[in-house]
Amino acid sequence: MILYFSAIGNCKYVATRLTQATEQEMLSIADCIKENRYDFADETVGIISPTYDWGLPSIVKEFLEKASFQTGYLYFIATYGTTPGATGYMANKSIHGRGIDAYYSVRMADTWTPIFDLSTPEKIAKYTKNTEAEIDSVIHAVSQRQTNRHMSPCTPAFITKWIAEPIYNNKVRRTSHFHVEDTCIGCGLCAKKCPVQAIEMRDKKPVWVKDKCVMCLGCLHRCPKFSIQYEDKTKTHGQYTNPNVKV
Ligand SMILES: Cc1cc2nc3c(=O)[nH]c(=O)nc-3n(C[C@H](O)[C@H](O)[C@H](O)COP(=O)(O)O)c2cc1C
Ligand code: SF4
Ligand code: SF4
Repeated sequence: MILYFSAIGNCKYVATRLTQATEQEMLSIADCIKENRYDFADETVGIISPTYDWGLPSIVKEFLEKASFQTGYLYFIATYGTTPGATGYMANKSIHGRGIDAYYSVRMADTWTPIFDLSTPEKIAKYTKNTEAEIDSVIHAVSQRQTNRHMSPCTPAFITKWIAEPIYNNKVRRTSHFHVEDTCIGCGLCAKKCPVQAIEMRDKKPVWVKDKCVMCLGCLHRCPKFSIQYEDKTKTHGQYTNPNVKV
């Protein structure tokens, strides 16, 4: 069984490749939360998460804190653009009753476009040049049930715990960073797809009704008119969704 959270499609693509190679069931963490499903039993269980601010997305952390896993092999894969930070440490700390057996990471496009630039294929390729090879090697290792840490260089856990996670929770996640441009056509996709129902449509325009969200940037990257922006840099840094899966 493979459990994944994905806003822009990178983790969904890794989950899809693993599912195809190992013929396992693939479940979205956002769907499991909607269905109140937190107990999982299978021969192997894989958790695939993006890296957010050197740690876990709030939705993944909260899910892992509630979940229980009965399995002979529990592995964790972080996708990331710059560094997987301390995601593995955080995932292991969040899960009760059982430790993670193996940790992996896959470098993919960095969807944090308030800072990083995905505006041209060349800029995207700088992140993705080794992605396929890295996924192949994770599939091989998982098939052999390898254990231990196979992640790219990480950052110390205390930095995530004391600095990065508080910044993510108290600053980055604030929906007041968003604005909507006049190009919005009122299609409602942003509200429909938000994993935490942070957006409502009012007078055919999105309105953020929660003070904080996961800050997955799904609304920004999926908008058909690229009308949603986070502060002032995202417009020039481009819009990106993983081309191999539907998001
Ligand atoms: C709020 C936010 C914070 C992020 N922080 C990091 C980070 O600390 N390190 C990193 O390498 N990538 C970071 N990223 C990039 C994502 O981890 C990466 O692009 C991931 O593959 C996206 O997965 P998805 O397409 O399945 O949503 C961040 C992305 C977002 C939206
Ligand atoms: S997805 Fe984009 S175009 Fe559609 S309602 Fe939201 S902001 Fe407007
Ligand atoms: S409001 Fe946008 S960034 Fe925030 S959780 Fe919803 S889709 Fe993700």
